Amino acid sequence: MLMMNLHALVALIPLVASLPSMPSMPSFRNKLKSLSSHDDQCPFPESYKITSLQVWTPKNNNTHPIVVDFQYADNETKIETSCYYNGTQPNAGPEGLAPRYACENPTVQFQWVQKTSMLSIIELACPNTAESGFMAVDQFTPRLSCVDTSNTTAFGEGSQCFSLDFAILRNFTALDPIAPPGGN
Ligand SMILES: *[C@@H]1O[C@H](CO)[C@@H](O)[C@H](O)[C@H]1NC(C)=O
Ligand SMILES: *[C@@H]1O[C@H](CO)[C@@H](O)[C@H](O)[C@H]1NC(C)=O
Ligand SMILES: *[C@@H]1O[C@H](CO)[C@@H](O)[C@H](O)[C@H]1NC(C)=O
Ligand SMILES: *[C@@H]1O[C@H](CO)[C@@H](O)[C@H](O)[C@H]1NC(C)=O
Ligand SMILES: *[C@@H]1O[C@H](CO)[C@@H](O)[C@H](O)[C@H]1NC(C)=O
Repeated sequence: MLMMNLHALVALIPLVASLPSMPSMPSFRNKLKSLSSHDDQCPFPESYKITSLQVWTPKNNNTHPIVVDFQYADNETKIETSCYYNGTQPNAGPEGLAPRYACENPTVQFQWVQKTSMLSIIELACPNTAESGFMAVDQFTPRLSCVDTSNTTAFGEGSQCFSLDFAILRNFTALDPIAPPGGN
């Protein structure tokens, strides 16, 4: 599986090289454009929008898992979906890597790293075509405003954080081969 992906990557390199050089454009966007130009029916993910981002984290020995909630939209691929984690969702990624969780539309997946308050976003590229095997990736630290929650609230003692930005607009920064499930 991994070998197939590597072959696909190698096969695509000449296409990237044949594009006119555009120094003002990061190479990631060149790569995206060359891949997307294969098939107008299958735009590769380029940018996305996150709204209604909330993160709740436990405090003072509260064992309730972290809760992450946001809305995701990608104009290019026409995906709009809800993303939610509260400890009951299974790991959607390969074993051996930091767990990641599927949104309602499992083409979109995310990770929250509490230590760095960092949200990672993955959108699988062209999941239903022969060009599958790539995922667009980005990560960032959202600007949050937090209030304490008491042990009389739904999740108990903790900190409820809301995004200070009504909408977070981001470009993907990498296009990686999808690691096969099981990590081998
Ligand atoms: C957490 O639990 C430990 C052991 O039960 C206790 O000593 C400590 O005071 C607790 N901390 C808080 C912030 O409640
Ligand atoms: C999404 O597409 C609509 C219509 O094509 C456009 O008006 C809007 O600015 C786009 N939004 C983003 C974030 O690109
Ligand atoms: C987590 O969310 C699911 C729905 O997505 C809900 O059924 C479940 O009760 C929640 N569990 C906890 C521990 O909050
Ligand atoms: C909730 O917190 C208050 C104040 O810290 C404490 O007195 C009370 O025992 C706690 N109740 C529960 C159910 O943990
Ligand atoms: C995304 O990329 C486009 C095209 O390079 C650029 O105009 C835009 O400012 C970028 N948006 C963000 C949020 O970085």
